[in-house]
Amino acid sequence: MRLSDSEPGSNFYWGAATAAYQIEGSPMADGAGRCIWQEFSHTPGTTYDGQTGDLACDHYHRFAEDIELMRNLGLGAYRFSIRWPRVLPDGVGEPNPAGLAFYDRLLDGVLAAGLEPFVTLFHWDFPSALQRRGGWSNRDSADWFGEYASVVAAALGDRVRWWTTLNEPFVVAEQGHLVGAHAPGVRNIYAAGHAIHNQLRAHVAAWTALKAANPEASVGIALHNAAVWPASESEADIAATEVAHAWHNFPLFLEPLVYGRYPPELEPRLRPYLPSGYEEDMAALCLPPDFAGINYYSGYRVRHDATKWTGFVASKEPGVPKTTMDWLIRPEGLSFILEQAHEKYKLPHLFVTENGASFDDRRDGQAVHDPERIAYLEAHVGEVLRVRKEGVPVQGYFVWSLLDNFEWALGYSKRFGIVYVDFDTQERVVKDSGHWYGELARSGHLPVA
Ligand code: FCB
Repeated sequence: MRLSDSEPGSNFYWGAATAAYQIEGSPMADGAGRCIWQEFSHTPGTTYDGQTGDLACDHYHRFAEDIELMRNLGLGAYRFSIRWPRVLPDGVGEPNPAGLAFYDRLLDGVLAAGLEPFVTLFHWDFPSALQRRGGWSNRDSADWFGEYASVVAAALGDRVRWWTTLNEPFVVAEQGHLVGAHAPGVRNIYAAGHAIHNQLRAHVAAWTALKAANPEASVGIALHNAAVWPASESEADIAATEVAHAWHNFPLFLEPLVYGRYPPELEPRLRPYLPSGYEEDMAALCLPPDFAGINYYSGYRVRHDATKWTGFVASKEPGVPKTTMDWLIRPEGLSFILEQAHEKYKLPHLFVTENGASFDDRRDGQAVHDPERIAYLEAHVGEVLRVRKEGVPVQGYFVWSLLDNFEWALGYSKRFGIVYVDFDTQERVVKDSGHWYGELARSGHLPVA
């Protein structure tokens, strides 16, 4: 399939995505402050084999080499995140010039390599100093984040057009505050409800700060998505699937931002856990983003279960292929999500800000053969190009991830990169999927695998 078949082909970005804590390492270098992922991963029993992001891919020192890799592959865009406490060690207050200087060098390198930067302000590395003040449970968190956005915009805003405020605020609320499997490791449904609402408010504060610094900036939010289908034709399963979609996917954040309300299917269940008086904030939250970032990996079938607070569970599906995350491979779900997001919210642009797969890759000299990842990417990219042809305004696709990296609580046990990282030597080896993806990015044609 030719990209140029789907107008306007020339504006399509083929990129790779990363996140600061997952690749940078050196979390305390040059005056940086601690973040909740550093504290969480150093707490015994929280991550796979006690692994941390202390070194990760050592990108803090090897960023030039990593940019060169992307240039050599022929990618057109790079989505990376800024580590908030590098820039503001206490989360607010005095900025750290050395921290800003790192991102200044990184951004200049990205631009010099001809890559379009897509900058995410928050990919989960919340400043510890602010966590001690209640983190996302504290209503002031929206102002803290707005202040941080202003500092970053003043330093980098002259060179960045595409900004993402938050990455997957749903996962921050659910895994970080309800399940407790991610930092800050809280297990409290009220904290989760507050985290949802205050992240929405924080997104709006950052959106406003970024626009004030540059009205031409495009500011969006990257959202978690898993396609859902009912496990049966029963009314109960169909209704439960609507709740699952509202809870897990883009409606949880786009419904407030576009229509000034929580998704009606979900609100009665969520209401008890939101901050009291939340209704009074809703009008101010109604500020549609310039784009939505769609993160998509997997899909599942939903079964009604009255014993759960959400009223549903994922039903088992033997026989569907999975990645090593145990995530079902469902490429058709990506088009479903993109079509639904467009139909419901009609934003100017959509981006696939993350899509990819973990497999047990093995190094074979200077090669890594990963045909399963190529098949995964090919199927998902095919769906993106198909819906784009049908008029869904998808403007770019970012593979997760450029590098094998610190996969949060699962440490280095899951490899998502199109570039293999030997964590003993920090050597990078481009996987077959990296060569394949580079050819796609250079030509706009799906290569013959
Ligand atoms: C997403 C995260 C990203 C990465 C992938 C596998 O939820 O945004 O950092 O961990 O999953």
